[in-house]
Amino acid sequence: MLAIRQYTFGGPEVLEPAEVDRPRPGPGEVLVRVAATSVNPADWKVRAGLIGMAVDPPLTLGFDVSGVVDELGPGVHRFAVGDPVYGMVFGGANAEYVVAQAHTLASKPANIDLVQAAALPTAASTAWQALAALGAGQRVLVHAAAGGVGHLAVQMAKHRGAFVIGTARAANHEYLRGLGADEVIDYTAVGFESAARDVDIVLDLVGGEYGSRSLRVLRANGRLIDTQGSDAEADPRYERFYVEPAGASLREITTMVERGFLQVTIDRVLPLSEAAQAHRLSEAGRVRGKIVLVAWNPPD
Ligand SMILES: NC(=O)c1ccc[n+]([C@@H]2O[C@H](COP(=O)([O-])OP(=O)(O)OC[C@H]3O[C@@H](n4cnc5c(N)ncnc54)[C@H](OP(=O)(O)O)[C@@H]3O)[C@@H](O)[C@H]2O)c1
Repeated sequence: MLAIRQYTFGGPEVLEPAEVDRPRPGPGEVLVRVAATSVNPADWKVRAGLIGMAVDPPLTLGFDVSGVVDELGPGVHRFAVGDPVYGMVFGGANAEYVVAQAHTLASKPANIDLVQAAALPTAASTAWQALAALGAGQRVLVHAAAGGVGHLAVQMAKHRGAFVIGTARAANHEYLRGLGADEVIDYTAVGFESAARDVDIVLDLVGGEYGSRSLRVLRANGRLIDTQGSDAEADPRYERFYVEPAGASLREITTMVERGFLQVTIDRVLPLSEAAQAHRLSEAGRVRGKIVLVAWNPPD
């Protein structure tokens, strides 16, 4: 089968198509014929060797997948061959087939196609799990609100009945208000810490010095949820967050999508052969929503 491989850490140019063996599902696993995958910052960070995922090149990236169940490993009863599914995998989705652990997959929402479904797993699971404690009437500040995680977090927070504040460039403000944001802060024009106050939860998708600056807008019993690594670690309100690949989260997300409470924004769709270009766009940090990569021979 074809896959996008890299044989060394480096820039987008290290990504190249190559013929590799089709993987086989082991116990508890599912072989998925890939329809599409989407780009997450983790893809280019691993590609460049910036974060260790306990893997060295040669490797195949891709942490989100949508597609059709092609083969079931021993002990998998939740799915049947031919089912349309989506989910997170531990790499390898930039290929014609990928093996997923069955417990990390869910049935594709009925009202969206496989291209849209590929945009959801990591970003929506992150937003869902990170905002688990958010309640009605609370004030939440979402940094990078227009990005892959942020635009879904805004919608989820609004649906929970929270007061939603987001940071974004002015060009994204109308878009974010359309998703339900109550206030938007142009972080390029003002310090967000002077524009927001009395926040219960900050979802920090930027990190670095955004950490200590976010502490200034938090209530005394607020929580700073950091997905990135920041300078706020010593504060008792600080929590480092790591998304868990979980079909259970995706089943909640499926329900939200099917009921019309959650819509994923696709910035653009590219063929998987243009993965390097997709990495360049993601790395530039201006993507609104998600970039989806469509596999070579996607199932219907
Ligand atoms: N720990 C975990 O488990 C976990 C899981 C998922 C993601 N993450 C991390 O979370 C971060 C966000 O992920 P993502 O997929 O949402 O990224 P993304 O889609 O690439 O984010 C792009 C968005 O970031 C915004 N942005 C860039 N610089 C900003 C700034 N200084 N302030 C506010 N907004 C800014 C841009 O909006 P504007 O054009 O409006 O600036 C753009 O829309 C990444 O670093 C990722 O690695 C961590």
